[in-house]
Amino acid sequence: MKPITVKKIKKEYSRFVWQTNSNEIFTEEMTLFTLTSPGATYALAALESGHLAHVYFGKRADDEDLSYLLRLDENPYTPKVNERDMGTFMDTTPFEYPCHGIGDYREPAVMIMDGKGMSALDLRYVSHEIIPGKPLLSQKLEDCEICLPATFAENGEAETLAVTLEDKRTGLRVILYYTVFTELDVIARSVRIVNGGNEAVDIRRVMSACVDFDNDEYDFITLNGSWARERVMERCRLHHGKQGVDSVKGESSHQNNPFTALVSHTADEDMGEAYGFNLVYSGNFFAQAEVTQHKKTRFVMGINHFDFSWRLEPAAEFTAPEVIMVYSDQGIGKMSRTFHDLYRQHLIRGEYKDKRRPVLINNWEATYFGFDENKLIDIAKEASSLGIEMLVMDDGWFGHRDSDNSSLGDWFVYEKKLPGGLKKLADEVNKLGMKLGIWFEPEMISPDSELYKAHPDWAIQIKGLPMTQSRQQYVLDYSRKEVRDCIYGQMREILDNANIEYIKWDMNRQLTEVGSNALPPERQRELWHRYVLGVYDVMERLITDYPKLLLENCSGGGARFDPGMLFYSPQIWASDDTDAIERLKIQHGTSICYPASAMGAHVSDCPNHTVGRSTPFETRGNVAMVGTFGYELDVTRIPKEDREKIPGQIEMFKKYNPLIRTGDQYRIGNVFEDNMWDAWVFAAKDKSEAVFTFVQVLGRPNYRSRRIKLKGLAPEKMYKNHDSGEIHSGAALMNCGINVSLDGDFKSKVVYFSAVN
Ligand code: DGJ
Repeated sequence: MKPITVKKIKKEYSRFVWQTNSNEIFTEEMTLFTLTSPGATYALAALESGHLAHVYFGKRADDEDLSYLLRLDENPYTPKVNERDMGTFMDTTPFEYPCHGIGDYREPAVMIMDGKGMSALDLRYVSHEIIPGKPLLSQKLEDCEICLPATFAENGEAETLAVTLEDKRTGLRVILYYTVFTELDVIARSVRIVNGGNEAVDIRRVMSACVDFDNDEYDFITLNGSWARERVMERCRLHHGKQGVDSVKGESSHQNNPFTALVSHTADEDMGEAYGFNLVYSGNFFAQAEVTQHKKTRFVMGINHFDFSWRLEPAAEFTAPEVIMVYSDQGIGKMSRTFHDLYRQHLIRGEYKDKRRPVLINNWEATYFGFDENKLIDIAKEASSLGIEMLVMDDGWFGHRDSDNSSLGDWFVYEKKLPGGLKKLADEVNKLGMKLGIWFEPEMISPDSELYKAHPDWAIQIKGLPMTQSRQQYVLDYSRKEVRDCIYGQMREILDNANIEYIKWDMNRQLTEVGSNALPPERQRELWHRYVLGVYDVMERLITDYPKLLLENCSGGGARFDPGMLFYSPQIWASDDTDAIERLKIQHGTSICYPASAMGAHVSDCPNHTVGRSTPFETRGNVAMVGTFGYELDVTRIPKEDREKIPGQIEMFKKYNPLIRTGDQYRIGNVFEDNMWDAWVFAAKDKSEAVFTFVQVLGRPNYRSRRIKLKGLAPEKMYKNHDSGEIHSGAALMNCGINVSLDGDFKSKVVYFSAVN
C-alpha cells in the first residue's frame, strides 16, 4: 500500500428518524485519507459538512475504505441530516482538530481571541496536498526565521499529508501535517496557523495533535520525577475526566517528561497495543487524556496553553512543534525500539550521529569548583594513561567563579585558575593525546557579573516585582536577538581560540517573573515560547558553525531530556544521580522513548555523592555502558584497584558500544516493579550477536541463581555464550533462559552472545 491514499467516497445511508417513525435515506460524500506504515494505519475523513473526523489509528488494516467506522448511519453521527441535534454531533464525533465554542465540550485543540473578544472557531476542510518527504518547520519572527527541531526524512523515506481547514468568520487557516514514515510505525504531526483574515487574533491554545480513541480501555504511562530522580515510569488506568502531565517551568522539566503512552490494560514489554506520544519541544508542554461521558478517550498534546498567547497579525503564521506518534502491537518494548530507531536515524544529526562518542572524564564530581590548571592536568595525565579520550572541564573556569554565586554571562577565562588561558590548557591536554571539552551555561546571568552590570535589563523580569534568584542566578531574555548575539559572540571567541571539541550546555534554573523588557504588552505572553525559540537559534548556529563539535545537553541533570534537544545534541546528561542502582530506574524510564546512544552516563566515585551508596566499580561501569560512557571522579585519588579496572572497562565499552548504540534494546527486568534485580539485552539488527547485562540489586538467601529468559535473539540460530563457552539455540535462551548466579548486593554481570554457524 502507498503511504498515503486519498479516496472520494459517496455512500447512501439509511437512518431511522423518530419524529417520522421511518427510515430516511441520505447520501454523504467525503474525502477519506488513509495513512499506512509497515504495521499501522491512521485514517481521517473530511465529511461533506467540512468537519474533519478521526476514523482510526491502530494495527494495519490494508483497506482503503475504513469509512464504515464513522457510524454515519447512527445518531448523532450524521451532520448532514442532523441540524436539530448538531450539538450532540459536535460533542460526540471523533475529530482530528477540535475547536472550542461550537458544541464540543471535550478538550479543544485550538482556541483564539479575536479583535471582537470572541474565542469560538468553526474549522472546516478546504483542501489537501501530498508532499514527498517531509517539510522543515520554522517560525518567522520580526528579525529572523528560526528552525524548529523536528524529525527529517528524504523523499522515499516518508510522505506528508497536509490538510487545510478554515474558519470562515475570522479567515484563520489551520494546516495539519501528517508525515508517515515508510519503514517505521511513526506518524509525525504538526500544525501551522495562518491568519488569512484582516484583523489580528491571539492564539490562546494550539495543540500539535489530537487523537480521539474509540474507547477508554487503556493505561496511561508517564515519566515523572524530580532532580536526581528523573523519568520514573508511572502507569495507571484511565478514568473518567482528565488526567495528564505538563510543564510550566519554561523547560521540559525534571518533574514530567513530554512523553506519554496509552497502552492496553494487558500490554507488557512484549505484547499488547501501545501508542506513544512525544513532543519535540523543550519548553512548557501539555499532554492530557480525557475519558468522556461515552467512555471514549480524547488525547491532546502540544505547547502548554497555560500563560500562553501569541499575537497573529493578518498574513502572519504560527508553527506549532511536532508530536511523534508511535504505534506498536508488540507491547511497550517494540514502541520503545521504534522511538529509538526514529531518533537515531531521523532526528539526531551531525558528526557523531553514527559514531561512538569519546570516553570522557568530567571533573565536576572530582573537584566541583576547586580546581586549577595543575589539578586538571594531573587528572588528564592519569586519565590518558588509562585510555580515557577526553577531559571535560565543568563549571567554574570563567569570570571569577569560585562557587555558584557569580560570573554567568562572563564567558572569558578565569586567569587565577587557568593562568595560560584555554589555549594553553587545550594544547597541554591535546599533547597527552586527549580532546578537551568545556562547560557553558549560556542562557543565564549572575547578578554578580560584568554582563549584569552592563545590561541589567537583559534578565527576564517584571518591573515592580522582586526578581527571584535560583542558584543565585537569573535567566537571560533569549527572545532578544542582541542578547543571543552577545552570548554567542563570547562563545565563538572561546571556540575560535582554543581547540575545544565538546561543549556541555547546562541550564540550571527555571523561569520566573516571565516578562521581557523588549516585547510590547500584547506580545508578553509569547515570551515562554520565544525563549525556547531563542535557545534553538543559538544551538543551531553553534552546530552549523562548528560541525565537528560534540554538544551534550544538560539541565541540572536531566530536566531537558527531550526530542527537541536531541535535534541539536546527540547526547543529553540523563541525571545528576550517578549511583548505579538509582540509574537503573532513571535509565529504564529514559529508554521508554530515548535511545541509549543519547544517554549521558558516567562512572562516579563511592560513596555516591547523591545517595551515599557504595557499589562495585564493575557495576558502575556495566550500568554506565548503556549510555555514552565516561568517568566523573578524581582518577588520581580513587582506590588503586578501581583505577586498574579502567582500561579493561574501556575495552569492554568499545567492544559493546556498536551493539548498544545501533542495536535493538530489550528490557527484561523492571526495577519499578521488582527492586531485587534488573536485566536487559542489546541485540544486533541482524540477530548475529547480543550483549546481556544482569544487575542484582539485593542478594538473596539460598537458591541464589536466577533463571532469566533472554530476548531479541533468533530462535533458529545457535549462539555461543562467551562467559560459559556453551552453545545453545536462540529458542532455548529465550524460552527456557539462562541461570545467573551472583553473590551479594549490587553485583552485576555482562555476557556476550554470538551466533555460530
Ligand atoms: C548541573 C549539572 O547537571 C552538573 O553535571 C554540573 O555541570 C553542574 N550543573 C555545574 O554547575
